[in-house]
Amino acid sequence: MAECRARKRAVVLVPMPLQGHMTPMLQLGSILYSKGFSIVVAHSEFRPPNPLNHPEFIFHPLSDDSSGYKTSLVNLMDLISAINSNCRAPLQEYLGQLMKDQKLEGCQVACVIYDSVLFFVDSVATQMKIPGIVLRTNMASYMLLYRCIFQLQAQNLLPFPESRLQEPVSELYPLRFKDLPFSINAEISEELMDFFDSMVNIRSSVAVIFNTTDCLEHSSLSLLQKQYQVPFFPIGPFHKMAPAASTSFLEEDQTCIAWLEKQAPNSVLYVSLGSIASINEQELTETAWGLANSGIPFLWVVRCDSLNEAQSVDHFLDGHFKESVGERGLIVKWAPQKKVLAHRAVGGFWSHCGWNSTIESICEGVPMICRPLFGDQRLNARYLTCVWKVGLEMENVLDRGSIEKAIRRLMIDTEGKEMRQDMLLMKDKIEASLQKGGSSYESLNDLTQFINSFSTAARE
Ligand code: UDX
Repeated sequence: MAECRARKRAVVLVPMPLQGHMTPMLQLGSILYSKGFSIVVAHSEFRPPNPLNHPEFIFHPLSDDSSGYKTSLVNLMDLISAINSNCRAPLQEYLGQLMKDQKLEGCQVACVIYDSVLFFVDSVATQMKIPGIVLRTNMASYMLLYRCIFQLQAQNLLPFPESRLQEPVSELYPLRFKDLPFSINAEISEELMDFFDSMVNIRSSVAVIFNTTDCLEHSSLSLLQKQYQVPFFPIGPFHKMAPAASTSFLEEDQTCIAWLEKQAPNSVLYVSLGSIASINEQELTETAWGLANSGIPFLWVVRCDSLNEAQSVDHFLDGHFKESVGERGLIVKWAPQKKVLAHRAVGGFWSHCGWNSTIESICEGVPMICRPLFGDQRLNARYLTCVWKVGLEMENVLDRGSIEKAIRRLMIDTEGKEMRQDMLLMKDKIEASLQKGGSSYESLNDLTQFINSFSTAARE
């Protein structure tokens, strides 16, 4: 607590233990630390962050009865719901203890910042009279999509006719009904509707922080700000403001950097589907042969748990594939992605379009092949392909011929070169937003002042 005492004010972070959520929360912690706050991370026992990567933070595990938790897509809702119920009492107890200790030591808890899926934190913070702030780890526009599902329900249009899924949602152009986060052509349970409500409802929280920036989502941010009474702070991209400490749950295979060193500038396609998505044997095989037949060098991340069948990648990628690819392709289990995207050899990114991957690619000026799989990825892909026009979309069933064609379009054709130019322009705009006078820079200063303005006296 000596560190906290010197800093006077502590911010308590409550992250969701999924890679795409933990990373931006820890980055936000580093950003706020650089602004003079002490950082306390109250995390689930399940998949804890590594304290060694952040010696400047205080970590506290919340007992969560986590045996049996799983992070695969089919179990995601169960995981979110288990953490929401099991971590409530431990957080309440810890905050009580922290406030008592810190008062004694002269350092006060300024606010609690929590992942938008951990709704329980709002009621705990309210009860303890601590301001709560929501962190949204996806695009701001994602909130608009949930509102659209409610409108459809109010108009009695759910389940939505399959034949109309390709139609544009008029007020959300260029999104189509099929790009909404869940399949609206099937029955949506009441439980799921309640979950959607929790996703957009910020309850009694006093502000929302976004890992985005005004130049990417100006109109959505303005529209949303009119609908909500609390201030919004789009201060992203976080990873460009925070020091590059590792936030990975898996070990990063650094050998791929030495391999990239041997490749020509802009020649390599980086392929990764993030930390949750899995693909079946057929898609894996077609992808492998599409990559092999394209003639383009590639670095491919195949996580051990990304195959639907519990078998190793070697089982699928036979000797014939290895012979055809030789030294031109490298497969790793987990890569240091930000370093990879920043490497001069990387000229394209085949991605599932998770928001972190999307914003990391934009920041390095790397155009994308978009293969969205679930949730917000369809929205992100639509922005990449139709709004910013810096990506090609791979829809429907994949076969090796269409994969090969898409790779060559992105990596060799004029179309891909133009996308790279446009991506570089976006990169420049984002860099400008992080400089003094830029939107994210100023928004971060506003956020800092906002947190500093909370009066602890008001809670007593
Ligand atoms: C999930 C959802 O799928 C995503 O749509 C949502 O926006 C956030 O939560 P995930 O699928 O893991 O996230 O994707 P993404 O948001 O792209 O995050 C993956 C993170 O893992 C990125 O920060 C990326 O740099 C990192 N990563 C990925 C690695 O460090 N190494 C790898 O090999 C692959």
